[in-house]
Order: sequence, then C-alpha cells, then structure tokens
Amino acid sequence: MAGGAIVSATGGKEYPGKLTMFVLLTCIVAATGGLIFGYDLGITGGVTSMDPFLKKFFPSVYRKQKEDTNTNQYCKFDSQLLQLFTSSLYLAALVASFFASTFTRLFGRKWSMFGGGLVFLIGAALNGAAENVLMLIFGRVLLGIGVGFANQSVPVYLSEMAPARLRGMLNMCFQLMITIGILCANLINYGSDKIKAGWGWRLSLALAAVPAAIITLGSLFLPDSPNSLIDRGYDDAALQMLRRIRGTDDINEEYNDLVVASQESKKIKHPWSNILKRKYRAQLTMAIMIPAFQQLTGINVIEFYAPVLFKTLGFGNNSSLLSAVIIGVVNVLCTLVSIFTVDKLGRRKLFLQGGIQMFICQIVVGTLIAIKFGTSGEGSMPKVYAGFVVAFICIYVAGFAWSWGPLGWLVPSEIFPLEIRSAGQSINVSVNMLFTFAVAQAFLSMLCHLKFGLFYFFGGWVVIMTIFIAFFMPETKNVPIEEMVLVWKGHWFWGRFIADEDIHFGSNAVEMSNGKQKQKGTGV
Ligand code: BGC
Repeated sequence: MAGGAIVSATGGKEYPGKLTMFVLLTCIVAATGGLIFGYDLGITGGVTSMDPFLKKFFPSVYRKQKEDTNTNQYCKFDSQLLQLFTSSLYLAALVASFFASTFTRLFGRKWSMFGGGLVFLIGAALNGAAENVLMLIFGRVLLGIGVGFANQSVPVYLSEMAPARLRGMLNMCFQLMITIGILCANLINYGSDKIKAGWGWRLSLALAAVPAAIITLGSLFLPDSPNSLIDRGYDDAALQMLRRIRGTDDINEEYNDLVVASQESKKIKHPWSNILKRKYRAQLTMAIMIPAFQQLTGINVIEFYAPVLFKTLGFGNNSSLLSAVIIGVVNVLCTLVSIFTVDKLGRRKLFLQGGIQMFICQIVVGTLIAIKFGTSGEGSMPKVYAGFVVAFICIYVAGFAWSWGPLGWLVPSEIFPLEIRSAGQSINVSVNMLFTFAVAQAFLSMLCHLKFGLFYFFGGWVVIMTIFIAFFMPETKNVPIEEMVLVWKGHWFWGRFIADEDIHFGSNAVEMSNGKQKQKGTGV
C-alpha cells in the first residue's frame, strides 16, 4: 500500500490527503444548517419583547405588563405562557431528533438536512402569516422539527467529511453559522421593532425562511459522506468520494478502516440498546453530560432574554435590542478564535479556560446586580454602571463562544463509533433541547425567585463542568473518528470499561501495547 496512515505526534493516526476546496465548500454549505437554529435562538427574545406581538397573541401578558405597578425589577416579566411560546420549539426538536436518527442512518445525512430545511421553511411561512396562537405554536413545532433534523445530521456530517487534523475547525463552522444566525436575528429585531405600523414581528418571524431556503437548496448539492455511503452499501461511490474529498489516490488505509467500522456497525441490530453496553459507557456519559452542561452554562438566559434582561436593568426598548446586537457580534468573533485554535490547542484547553472565564464573569455580574437591586429588587442602575454589567456579560459570552458553544457540538459528534453514531447524536441533540427547553421555560420565574443569585446558580454549574472536563474528558484533537476508541481505552477512568477484545481495528491493535495505549495529550 502506498503511503498509508502514519501515527502523528499527538499519538493519533494521520491519513494522507489535504484540505481540498471541494471538502471546504461542502462543509461550509452543510454548516449553513446551523443558521436556522441560530436564527430562531436569536429572534424569539426580541419578538416577545415587542408590544404589537404581545397585544395580538398574548393580550393578558401585555395587560399585566402595562398594569404592573410592582417595583420589584426581578419579577416584571414572569409569564409561563410567554415562556411556553419560546420553549415549545425545543420540545418539538427533542422529539424530532429521535426520528431523525433512523432517517439519517437509512437515507444518509444529506436528505436529513434537506428534510429539516424544508419543514423549517413551512414553519417560517406559517409563523409570518400567523393570525392566532394556534398557527403560531403549530409553526413553531414545524421549526422545531427542522432544527431537530438539522442538528442531528449536520455536526456528524461535518465530522465525517473533514480530515482528522482539521475536524475541529470544519465542524465548528456549524457553531459559527449558529452565531451568525443569532446575530442576523438580533439585527432584524432591532430594525423591525422600529416599524411603526406594528407588523415588525411578522417580518422577523417570516425572514426565518431565508436561512431555511439556504440549507434546503444547499443540501441538494451536497455529496453523501463516505462513512454513510459505505454503511448503506455504496462501496464504490464511497471510494470515489474519499478520493475526491482527500484530494489523493492514497486513501486505501482510511477506506479500509471505514469498511471495518461499517462491518462492525452492521453486526449491531439495536443501536439504542447497544449504546447502553458497558464498553460505550464513556460515550453515553458524554452524550448526556456535554449538552446538559452546555445549557447549564446559562448561555440561553442571555440569548433568549437579553432584551428582557436589559429592560429589567433599566434600559429602554431599543437600547435593549442594541445590547443584544453587541453580544451577537462578540459571539460570532469569539467563535472564530475557537475555529482557528481548536486543532492546535486541543479541546481540553479551550474547555478549561472558557469555564474559568465564564465563572468569574457570572460572579461579577451577579454581584453588580446584587449591589444595586439587593434582594428586594428595588432600585435603578446608572448608565455607566449598566455599561459595566453589559461588558462583563460580553466577556462571559466570549468565554462561551470559544469553549462550550462550539465544543458542545463538536465533541459529541466525534466520539461515537459508527454503530452508535446516529443514536448517540440523537441523545446529544435531545438532551441539548431538553435543557434548552428547561432553561427557557424556567428563566423568568428563576430570576423572580433566585434574583441576582441566578448568576451564582449557573456559575456553580460552570465550576462543576470544568472539574468534570479536567478529570473525565480526554483530548480528542487530531484523532481519526473511527479510531476514537483508543483514546477512551487509554484514559485513566474510562479505560476500565473497554475490554481488549472491544478494539477491532487491525492496524491499531498492533499499536496497542497490552491493550493500554497511553495517548499523548489526553491530559489525565
Ligand atoms: C447552543 C445554543 C446557544 C448558542 C449560542 C449553541 O451551541 O447550543 O443553545 O444559544 O450556542 O451561541
């Protein structure tokens, strides 16, 4: 065999090949699947703070807000109904991701993205044209189904297409698109809120059709990933695709490893019960803990409710929306930092640094609010002081944007062996959605009851997740995706769950000494 794989300095295997223009474009198009998720994350908070929208669909909430003589700043916007509007989408996405798993396995990642985009498109049209709450909620359920399918297929697709040493960078284009989606939504809300005639909210909701059209049409031009082609029996097509995306004919080693992985996966009849096996304990734990922790950073308190939060801090309507725009810009720019460093620095360093930064900011923001509003929630905030609060929120968002934001999608997409990849990704998406739902649903009530302590609450979780990463998350940078089992096998804790017979790769077995290969750079 010419060339073949070599073992890289980091202990991972490196297959020959380069970053081709074809694979780069393919990944950029696929990543636009993140736009629909991001657009929705960003649009909702602004729309629910617009009076004409509230008057039309939630008149009781509107009345209550206007009549409210409560001076307690923490409790001004507490409404379960309004929170349900925000969070219904995430429930739909949660359920959809389970169906998306089977769909993605049987028909490939491409059609899953196409289907997701199409359903989202219909949802956007319904929302823009909504005349009553039913249309609104039904539209949101369709949006949720779209997000469930896209978030199921896009990260996995990106990780499969990318050469191992650039996987972090290419996969993170998904998160970059999420943040661009959020920013566009923030900007549109800022503009549409100014429409005097009161139909600005319609524009905001209907424009979701733009990102939906991009991924729906874009996906039609996408090739299937070699992993998925082999898995569905198209071996020749897979071989050609691998040559094309790696830009070399020297792909035999990688191809063979993919075939072995696929054969292993074929032996598995029930991916759902299979993932419960002892040897997958590490992956299962990560599929649950990583998305749960991502949401417990509290990021969506900021994403959904920044305008409401800033109103609470005494900002006017438009300056609240403007602050949301500023946060959106920080989010996009700091995601770029991660994209360009993740394959060099590795996942662990970013996780740990980002965690510490977020924690410090949460303590500072909580304390700044405590000083002005105390526990009674009465008081006001001078402009400069509020400016400091916004600044620390921005530093917090920066920390999230180069750590848990992109890594929360990257890490789960790269750690599952093929036989449990779709099922594992479903768990990842649904746990993410479950916690997104819970935070969206509970935030306003939590602010009302926990007051400034809300920031300490999420800060506490950041401490726990940072310790978790330090001890339980091995470094996965540059390791080929079908070889990840070696990383777990070499880990001080997870290694005990994997028997030597569980390692099936011929060439790798040789590299293992006593079944205990210590991966350099695993950190622990
Ligand atoms: C998270 C979202 C979050 C967004 C913010 C994503 O990775 O899954 O919940 O709103 O990042 O940028």
